[in-house]
Parts: sequence; C-alpha cells; structure tokens
Amino acid sequence: MPARKIAVIGAGYVGLTTAATLAAAGHGVTCVDVDRDKVAELRAGRVALLEPDLPELVAAGRRAGLLRFTARLPDALLPPHPPDLVFVCVPTPRGEGGAADVSIVEAVARDLGRLLPPGAAVVLKSTVPVGTADRVRGLLRRPDLPVLSHPEFLSEGSAVHDCRHPDRLVIGAGTTPADRAAARRLADLYTDLAAPVLLTGNASAELIKYAANAFLAVKLSYANTLAELCESVGADIGDVCRGLGLDPRIAPAHLRPSPGWGGPCLPKDTHALLDLARTRQIGFPLVRAALETNDRQHHRIADKVRTAAGGCLDGVRIAVYGLAFKAGTADTRDSPALAVARLLHAQGAELTVYDPAAANPAGPDDWYQTADNPYTAAKAATVVAVLTEWPEFARLDWALISQLMHRPHVVDARRILDPEALEACGLTVSAVGRGTR
Ligand code: UGA
Repeated sequence: MPARKIAVIGAGYVGLTTAATLAAAGHGVTCVDVDRDKVAELRAGRVALLEPDLPELVAAGRRAGLLRFTARLPDALLPPHPPDLVFVCVPTPRGEGGAADVSIVEAVARDLGRLLPPGAAVVLKSTVPVGTADRVRGLLRRPDLPVLSHPEFLSEGSAVHDCRHPDRLVIGAGTTPADRAAARRLADLYTDLAAPVLLTGNASAELIKYAANAFLAVKLSYANTLAELCESVGADIGDVCRGLGLDPRIAPAHLRPSPGWGGPCLPKDTHALLDLARTRQIGFPLVRAALETNDRQHHRIADKVRTAAGGCLDGVRIAVYGLAFKAGTADTRDSPALAVARLLHAQGAELTVYDPAAANPAGPDDWYQTADNPYTAAKAATVVAVLTEWPEFARLDWALISQLMHRPHVVDARRILDPEALEACGLTVSAVGRGTR
C-alpha cells in the first residue's frame, strides 16, 4: 500500500479518528477544522473527546510528523500538502422535517471546487442523504474530481477499535473511469485490513449507512417492547435476548433493553431515512414504529420511577445515575437518560444527577442538580434511577446507598445491577424486562 497524502475535513469523532488511524498506517494526514480552539487544543496535544486510545494515537501521529492540524482549509489542500484524497467528515445534523441538514457538506464542496488541485478525489464520510454525492459533483463544478461515498460505521466509545477492525468497508463511486480508479485508490488504503470491501454506486453506499442505523433502531425498539412483554408475563428479557441472540441470523448485539436508544446518530438517521422514504411516497411504518416505541420507552421508564416513588413525583427527590447516551462516552446528544430525566422533572421530581463523564449539557435551564459522586446524589432520595449502563454503577456500595436514601428504591433501566444483591441490602429493585415470577 503506497503512502498517500490525505486531507481530513472535520475533527469530530469520525474525522479525528479517521485522521489518526490513517496517520498510524503511515499516510501523511492534514486534519482541518473551523473550530480554532479545537485546533489549538489538538496542536497542544490535547484531545477533548472521551475515546479510548485516541489521545495516544493522535500523539503518535504528531510525533511521527504524519498528522498535522490546521484551521485553514488552504493549508490542507494546497502545496506543499496537496492531497490525493480528501475525506469530508463534517456534521449533518437533523434539519427541518427530519431531513439531514447538508449545508456544511455543501459549503465544503464549494470550497473544494475552488481550491483543490487536480488529481485528488473527494471522499464523503459524513452521513449524507441519497443523492448527495451527485449534488456535491454539481457544487464542485470540477468534472475532473471523482466523488466517492464512503460511510463510516464506528461507534462512540470504541471509535479507534472500530476504525482498525471494521466489519466492512463500503465505497460508492460513479460510473466514470476516473471514479472507478479513485475507488480502487481508496480501497488500497485498506489492503492490510481483513474486512471485505464492497464497491457500489454512490446511491447504494449512501443508503447502506441509513439502512444500517435504522435497522439497529428497529432491533433496539423490538428488544424494548419484548422487555415490556417480559414484565407482563413473568419472563426475563436477559434470558429471552440470550436465546434470540444465539441464532446467528439475529445476533446478540444491540438487543440490550434500555430507557430508549439515542445519541447523535441513530435518532437523526432514522428520521432522515423516513424523510427520504416520504419524498419517494414510500411509507416505512416499521421505522416509524421504532421511533414511536422509543418515545414510549422513555415514558415507560419514567412511569416505573413514579410507581417506585409511590405514585406521585411532585416534590420527590430522585437520584439519576447516568446522563450520557450510553456508557463510555461523555456525549449527551439525544440521550435517553436526559429524555427520561425531563419527564421526571415535568412531573415535579427534584433531580440530582450523577454521571462519571458527562458534564451538564442540558443547556441553560437549571432544572436539576448535579452531584460529583453517586453517594451524594443518593442522599435523601426516594428512588435511584439507573439510566446509563456505566459498569461502575454495578460496583457501588449499595448497602451505603440504601442507608443514605429516604426510601430505598432502585429502577434499573439498563439491567446492570444484581437484583438479589441489592435486595439483600434492603433495596427494592424494579428492572426493565424482569417479570415477577
Ligand atoms: C451508532 C452505530 O452503532 C454505529 O454503527 C454508527 O457508525 C454510528 O451510530 C454513526 O452513525 O456514526 P453510536 O451512535 O456510537 O453508534 O451508538 P450505539 O452504540 O449504536 O448506541 C445507540 C443507542 O442505543 C445508545 O443510546 C445505546 O445505549 C443504545 N443501545 C445500544 C441499547 O439500548 N441497547 C443495546 O444493546 C445497544
């Protein structure tokens, strides 16, 4: 694999991980971000994202002289650093009506059209609606520049691992010889990886990304509804999902019940797929149901907390354990924990929140208190609601928590606690998906 010169636009989860991983593979990478403060931090060797191995990988790339950061796009595109490949890794937030907002991708495309020297290929890694590669071609106004669709499948909390051990590499290209050649050049970056490389058209590659995330959303909502059924019929969702997951056609991943699924990707991409289907007059009731089920799951967990509190939350102190959208990240975007906390607050609960990583984030409203440890959060609480699956919650001194609380109830919306052990400490435990036998 020849070493390439690569520009990566965007230093978020996807951009920074991509840049650092490519540098580790021996390529010369310039990573550019409009956020000058972020660039200054990265140049000073600081990585603000909570992501295992990423700070070390970034540091190694910088030490080797293979990873540079800049806030100026021309620095990443013009000599002495003209790239062979430009990875576009900028955000595509949820826009009006659920459609993805691709305005940042479009602005980047216009800039690339003006600045890129001949010989480079544009690689779209941002999650973009079907048709975006064609739109980018139009905005570039540069028929000489191939445009490839190369979606990313990494998860937060395991970004570096996922980048180094991908399940598959999807590369979508147009039909011209230049596009095909650029697709092969991109695929050559990955010859050391065991993952299959799937070469497709641009539209298929763009759709694969949305199809994958929406499928995960459907799977998660399926598991959460099964959990509700388990509670009703005296079954246990842990056993049921183990039994399901052993079927290789179903697979065990993404079957854990929860207070709902969230984060910066699944909700946004599920809405975007629905929006795409709507524009083609195709109903997609299955995906719509996954979203509705998710919303219902937030309410179901809030109801469990209210029941545990004796039927009324007004003025009742609740300790919320976990704010991040999942364990292993400080990210609270579209967090199910926040969604449930908001429902509790709306019913008058007084919330004290503890999360080992996520800092407050909920915006300007001062609608909950934070505690810097779980024991302070539990003081005088009537219910502890475990909303994020941080493993350390399972290792807490629950006997102490039981003593600190006003009334010792726990709602385990992630099923990470050992109910028998907690019950032995005098706590009553209501776990999602655990029916009473
Ligand atoms: C998701 C996808 O899993 C990645 O493949 C994709 O690349 C990424 O979006 C993206 O589009 O960038 P991520 O947002 O990091 O990754 O989150 P997930 O790990 O999928 O978790 C999403 C939500 O589902 C979280 O709230 C999590 O707690 C919940 N979840 C996950 C469950 O409730 N149960 C599970 O078994 C797994």
